[in-house]
Amino acid sequence: MPTTFKLLFVCLGNICRSPAAEGVMRRVIDEAGLTETVHIDSAGTAGWHTGKRADQRMRTAAAARGLDLTSLARQVHDSDLANYDLVLVMDRSNHLDIRTFDREKKHLEKVRLFCEFCTDHEETEVPDPYYGGPEGFEKVLDLLEDGCAGVLHHIQQRLGKAA
Ligand code: 4NP
Repeated sequence: MPTTFKLLFVCLGNICRSPAAEGVMRRVIDEAGLTETVHIDSAGTAGWHTGKRADQRMRTAAAARGLDLTSLARQVHDSDLANYDLVLVMDRSNHLDIRTFDREKKHLEKVRLFCEFCTDHEETEVPDPYYGGPEGFEKVLDLLEDGCAGVLHHIQQRLGKAA
């Protein structure tokens, strides 16, 4: 049984959806007492926003739910696919794009759509909120809060710690 678990969230820019996913998941992991066991990070398939904090609109929406998003954007590295145990992408476009970071196609079984872990929503993708209004950021957080509960259950099973 593994004793640690490495989880990477991936979207396009790493300034809206995946840093929010990282923030929501950190809280879920902390509340489950797994802070030292589960390593969480996020990255973008594009490098346009490297070094930037999350988009102010995402930070405002997250802060209203008690979440402080502190991560700085980075692009996915070729080594991420080998180093992480699970890579959760926000949409199908991310799923296609991430293939370019795994040229030998050795690790693609680790890559899954985040919405597979949602139980209260029918959506199959977390929609990109960047060009839309505030309701899009709320929708992202609703989906993330739903799915992260499922992701916790998945990790607990993989660690042999299922309740
Ligand atoms: P994200 O959203 O993939 O959820 O971080 C976006 C952020 C930036 C851009 C597109 C989507 N952009 O075109 O710069």
